[in-house]
Amino acid sequence: MRLENSLALLAKGYAWLPDLRRASGGRAVGTRLGGLPAVGIEGPEAARFLYDEDHVRRSHALPEPVQGTLFGKGAVHTLDGEAHRVRKAMFVQVLMDPAGIDALVGRTTAAWDDAAREWVTRPQVVLLDASSEVIAGAVTRWAGVPVSDAEVPALAADLRAMVDGFATAGPRHWRARRARGRRERWLAGIVERVRSGELDAPPGSALRVVAAHRDLDGGLLDPRLAAVELLNVIRPTTAVAWFTAFSGHALARWPEYRERLAADPAFAEAWAHEVRRFYPFAPFIGGRAPRRVEFGGQTIPRNAMVLLDLYGQNHDAQLWEDPYAFRPERFLGREIGAYDLVPQGGGDPRTGHRCPGEQITVALLAALAPCLARLPLDVPADQDLTISLRRIPARPASGVVLRPAAAHG
Ligand code: HEM
Repeated sequence: MRLENSLALLAKGYAWLPDLRRASGGRAVGTRLGGLPAVGIEGPEAARFLYDEDHVRRSHALPEPVQGTLFGKGAVHTLDGEAHRVRKAMFVQVLMDPAGIDALVGRTTAAWDDAAREWVTRPQVVLLDASSEVIAGAVTRWAGVPVSDAEVPALAADLRAMVDGFATAGPRHWRARRARGRRERWLAGIVERVRSGELDAPPGSALRVVAAHRDLDGGLLDPRLAAVELLNVIRPTTAVAWFTAFSGHALARWPEYRERLAADPAFAEAWAHEVRRFYPFAPFIGGRAPRRVEFGGQTIPRNAMVLLDLYGQNHDAQLWEDPYAFRPERFLGREIGAYDLVPQGGGDPRTGHRCPGEQITVALLAALAPCLARLPLDVPADQDLTISLRRIPARPASGVVLRPAAAHG
């Protein structure tokens, strides 16, 4: 019953670790996850501790339901040591090149502008879904994977399903597994066609780099594993749609920011950081202790799970003044330390497990949030914008419905 247990704990939502810590009064708290001893930790020192491989390893740490939906089996997330560094270099090459990031942002904003011309003619659009289609089409083509306009809505729906279904035992979970199976088969076939010379992948594209990548053992990735890692580019980029929907939520709650967001690029970048800090998305990350270790007065037994509470740290009053206030200005002129703002992990993305797509996330959000602020669409009041902290991943319940200003009332 290990897996059921993990899912049940995950289902308690974003408040699970913060509540436990509050009850214990410290930055480290002992608990159990999936029948194993676990320690929840939080704060920059905790992040530093977790990213030291001497304290925490990733292999055999991710519950199967998370691998079977969100990340894929054998993904970079589950590797340690040299094997991780070799695989990670592949992601760094594709995702952290400034020219590549600019090209992706250019494609995505162009696709947004095309879509927005059509949105204003519809009775309404759901921002989370509509923006995921824009991003999915743009990132898939940017990655070198051919996809027709007609295929994009179903692709975006599958990518959303994989994100939406990893932390629940219900139908959302099975939808996520089916979506993953379908998309891994599709991409594995494309990788095989590239390798056979039947399909040309543009130089420098994710498709070409992943198809040619050699792992630590010197071998090419199995086509299915190559598909897993291509999905680890396409899926999380599409997930920036969640932050776009959260931006829509923030604009509805605090409309006084609209003009500045539309016009001031430095403010738009600060907005991107505040959206990633303030809104709940990735709840925590974790691994297993390779030996008995100590943190914050807690003894962590060998093999115990160590969980870094990302949501808790992003709302820690010792790090963020008035943490439950949405205030993009806090990031204007602020140096962000490697271990303080952790919605996408901490440390060095080139060597550790920190998200290699963070620059892409910030660049996309800082480009799309102003586009959103400029849209001639309203967020009507007759919708449920509640964000439940018990639902992982969280989302505004309605997905943020937008309507042309004249269409309601
Ligand atoms: C890892 C969050 C966007 C690719 C991670 C981790 C988190 C995260 C929490 C784990 C860090 C750790 O275990 O130490 C997010 C969020 C995103 C996002 C909230 C917003 C949508 C992206 C994008 C890409 C990406 C846009 C690719 C284009 C990856 C990969 C890893 C990762 C490949 C695994 C890194 C490793 O294990 O070394 N992300 N991410 N993510 N992310 Fe993201």
